[in-house]
Amino acid sequence: MANIDFSKRDSFGSKFGVIAAAAGSAIGLGNIWRFPYVAGENGGAAFLLVYLFFILVIGLPVMLSEFTIGRRARLNPFGAFKKLSPGKPWYLVGFMGVVAAFVILAFYGTVAGWTLEYIANALTNSFEGKSATQLETMFSDFKDSTFRPIMWQLIFMVLTAFIVLAGVKNGIEKYTKILMPILLVLIIVLCIRSVTLPGASKGLEFLFNPDFSKLNANSILEALGQAFFSLSIGMGTLITYGSYIPKSNNLSNTALQVSLADTLIAILAGIAIFPAVFAFDIAPGSGPGLVYITLPNIFQQMPGGSIFAVMFFLLLTVAALTSSISVLEVVVAYFSEELKIKRKSATWLATGLITAIGVLCTMSWGVLKDVSFTFSATETDMATGGEKMYIFDILDFAASNVFLPLGGLFIVLFVGWAMHRKNVHNEISNAGKFRTILLPIFMFIVKIIAPIAIALVFLNGIGLLNF
Ligand code: PHE
Repeated sequence: MANIDFSKRDSFGSKFGVIAAAAGSAIGLGNIWRFPYVAGENGGAAFLLVYLFFILVIGLPVMLSEFTIGRRARLNPFGAFKKLSPGKPWYLVGFMGVVAAFVILAFYGTVAGWTLEYIANALTNSFEGKSATQLETMFSDFKDSTFRPIMWQLIFMVLTAFIVLAGVKNGIEKYTKILMPILLVLIIVLCIRSVTLPGASKGLEFLFNPDFSKLNANSILEALGQAFFSLSIGMGTLITYGSYIPKSNNLSNTALQVSLADTLIAILAGIAIFPAVFAFDIAPGSGPGLVYITLPNIFQQMPGGSIFAVMFFLLLTVAALTSSISVLEVVVAYFSEELKIKRKSATWLATGLITAIGVLCTMSWGVLKDVSFTFSATETDMATGGEKMYIFDILDFAASNVFLPLGGLFIVLFVGWAMHRKNVHNEISNAGKFRTILLPIFMFIVKIIAPIAIALVFLNGIGLLNF
């Protein structure tokens, strides 16, 4: 391998720092906003089981593959593929990751903006005394408007850019370490309040008592997409973070710990949301607004609810930031290392371009509500005329259910078939320091099981294959 100068590249400071940063990327709106809304639309418990299965069998191996590629190459995803497999078109996978980062951050900024609005709402005590229906109207009126959602999105994007500019160690690591444990405590308190509401048991049943007849090809693809989105895999985020991980870190342990933490938070979010959804008679399939409609109802039922609400939305914003910086970092690392743009200009350029797309996304339900198309995946959809998808839904769907699974497919194929086995072994065992009895199983998964599984779920989900 060629000698490269590592001294100029930033890196994570400690073992805990690595986990905190990667978990910070994984844990975000994907767990607390996206998981409940997608699970709610896809029937609950059966979806949860498929999701967990995908995390274990596909997500974890993809995550370890990304760390392996990143730490081996010590470069952005595009450069990493080019370096590890020179002269072959694998770098296109890195490029696809950059495109996915654009799309994801565009709609992520929209939702993070909603979270900022809800901090403001909590600060001004705007939930108090409102019925479930009024809270629903409050959210949809806000979402359909133009000025405030865009203003919050701009603020969020500027914050993201600032943290990315502060660099890996001083920026990313410092914030995640303290704040994420507090968020965990708040979610647990929310769970307790939610499950003790009258009528809560129906929600637990929805989340934990599977009815497999509710699953269809599309919901299985949704579960795969959610697993990828939530773990931050399939687009090179964790290749980029892997490139900052010190040589002494045990990559398999890190992947396992990050996946466990991420899954735990998603399940806790489900336990916080669904009992309340049923207790307050909200439709589980309410779509992207689900948590913003449900949570204020719970806060209203808590002593000190408004202070709690402020803290919760504030920390949710922090969780969103530790994810959004990891997405922006993919684009910035590409712009600065491959296109040789100075890091600072690269950061603002990337932020500007992404925000421009993001603003269109934010206007999905307002000014641009006529830009939509109708999607019929199931027979019910066809009978009811299909599901209307706005710009926001299209970007969300394309990123999570198309770009990420395809990216993940190529990433495992790369580690399984294109990378030198010795290099893979070296990264996973830290040059022979750890025992790697599971390595043959990992290799078997990345070579065969994961690629076939992803391909089947994907082709079946988009209707090209029919089981
Ligand atoms: N995993 C993040 C979340 O759950 C979102 C994300 C997706 C981050 C893809 C990076 C890459 O919020």
